[in-house]
Amino acid sequence: MKIDKGRSFNMASTIKITARTEKKEIGGQVFTPEPIVALMVEKLFQRKHPKRDDSVLDPGCGAGAFIKGVLNWCTRKGIEAPRIVGIEFDSKLLGEARKSFEGLENVTLINENFLLGDFETFDFIIGNPPYVRLEGLSESERETYRKMFDTAVNRFDLYMLFFEKALKSLKPSGRLVFITPEKYEYTLTTKPLRKLMARYHVEEIHHISEDVFKDLVTYPTITTINGSGRGPTKVIHRDGSSITIKKIPADGSRWVLAIKGGAEPVRLGPVLADVCLRISCGVATGADEVFVMPKEGVPESLKPYAHPTIGGEQLTKGVRASDVMLIPYDRSGGLLPEEKLKNFKRWFSKHKKHLSSRYCVRKGKHKWYSFHENPPMSDILRPKILCKDIAKEPKFWTDPEGNIVPRHSVYYIVPKDPKILYGFLGYLNSEKVHRWLVARCQRAANDFMRLQSSVLKDIPIPSKWVERQ
Ligand SMILES: C[S@@+](CC[C@H](N)C(=O)[O-])C[C@H]1O[C@@H](n2cnc3c(N)ncnc32)[C@H](O)[C@@H]1O
Repeated sequence: MKIDKGRSFNMASTIKITARTEKKEIGGQVFTPEPIVALMVEKLFQRKHPKRDDSVLDPGCGAGAFIKGVLNWCTRKGIEAPRIVGIEFDSKLLGEARKSFEGLENVTLINENFLLGDFETFDFIIGNPPYVRLEGLSESERETYRKMFDTAVNRFDLYMLFFEKALKSLKPSGRLVFITPEKYEYTLTTKPLRKLMARYHVEEIHHISEDVFKDLVTYPTITTINGSGRGPTKVIHRDGSSITIKKIPADGSRWVLAIKGGAEPVRLGPVLADVCLRISCGVATGADEVFVMPKEGVPESLKPYAHPTIGGEQLTKGVRASDVMLIPYDRSGGLLPEEKLKNFKRWFSKHKKHLSSRYCVRKGKHKWYSFHENPPMSDILRPKILCKDIAKEPKFWTDPEGNIVPRHSVYYIVPKDPKILYGFLGYLNSEKVHRWLVARCQRAANDFMRLQSSVLKDIPIPSKWVERQ
C-alpha cells in the first residue's frame, strides 16, 4: 500500500487542482463537475459539521475533485478540515491528486483497489463511483467480485459494488453521499443493493439534471444515506418537485412506484402471464443482415423457408411486414432435417465465413447456419400481440393471422385463448396499463422506455379473463 502524507491544510487557502472538472470517460473515469461536487459536500455536512478528528473517504478519488470540495467547504466555513482519505487505483490520476494536495498532512492518498483493500471505517463517505458494466471487467475480476460482494449478481456494474463496500465502511453515526445512475432504484440486478440500502436510513434521493454528464451517465442521482437510524426518504424529482416516502421498500422490490408517489398496494390478482402461452422477445438470428431480406427479392428455391417478419423500427404505424426471415427450423423449433435444408445451405454457403464468426457458432454449440437461439415456432406462429422493445410510449399491435415472426427488437405476447386477442389489445393500449408500465419500466436513453418480458408478464389483468380460461 502506497501512502502519501504531507503538510497540514492551511485554512486560508482555496485548493486548486489541475482542471479536472470536465468529464471524460476512460473505463469508469467520469469526472464530477465542480457545482455538483459543491452540492454533494453541502449534503454531506448538512446535519453535522465535520470535526478535526473525523475521517472522510473519497473512494475512486481520481484527481481529487471531492477532496478539493471538502477542503474548500471547510475554508468557506472557517473550520479546520477533517482527515481525508482518497483511494484510487489509477496511479497517473493519483499522481495528479498528489501534486494538488502536496504537503497537506490531513490528506492521505492510497494507490489501491478500493474493492479489494482492507480499510478503516469512516465518519463521512463521498464520491462518484466508477460506472463499469460487466463487459468492461475481465473474467477473473468478475469471478473475484462475485465471491466477495452480495451485490455482484447478474449483469452487475462496479458502482453497485462501490455502494456495498462504502456502506460497509461507514461508521454507524456516519453519512454517505454518492452520485450514480438512478438505475439502482428499479433494475432486477440491483435488488440486493436496494435490500442492503434499506438497512440504512436513505435520507434523500435527488434526481439531478440529465445534462450534468452529457450522454455519459443516464439519469444521474445523488443519494444521501445515514449509517443508522430510521426515517423518511425525501425524493427530489428532475422537475424540482419533491415528495417524502415514509418507508422505502425493504424487501429489495423496485422503488420506482414509491418514488413516483404512487403508493399503490401490491396487487395480488391475476397477471398477464396467467393467461398467456408465451411472453418473449422475438427471434435472435445473430445475423439479421443475412437471414432477413425484402419479400420481393426472395429466390424461388428459398420460398419454403420464408416467413413474414417485423422489427421494432417498422412497428410504428401498424403491422406491415415487407421483409421475410429465412428460417431453417420446423414448428417444433428444431433444425429441419438435412434433406430439407439443401437449398437453404446452398444459398447461404456464400455467407458461411461470416455466419461461422458468430459467437454462438465459435463456441461450438451451433451449426454455421443455425440461429443464435432456436425459435419456438409453434408459439410464434399463433395469433399474438406485438410491441417494440424500446419505445417512447408503450403501444401494442395485433398479428391476428399469426404468421409474422417478430425479430429481436419486438416482444410478442401469445394469449392462450386467441378469441380474447382484441380484448387484450384494447386493455394493453388503455391509459391504465400505460400508466402502470411507465411507473415500472426501465428507462433507456433519451427518455425511451425498455419493455422487458418480466414487466409485461406482471401486468395486472381483469379476473374475468382468468375465469374464461
Ligand atoms: C467516476 S470516476 C470519479 C473520479 C473523481 N472522484 C471525480 O468525481 O471526479 C471513478 C474513479 O474511480 C477509479 N476507480 C475505478 N475502479 C476503482 C477501484 N476498484 N479502486 C479504486 N479506484 C477505482 C477510476 O480510476 C476513476 O478515477
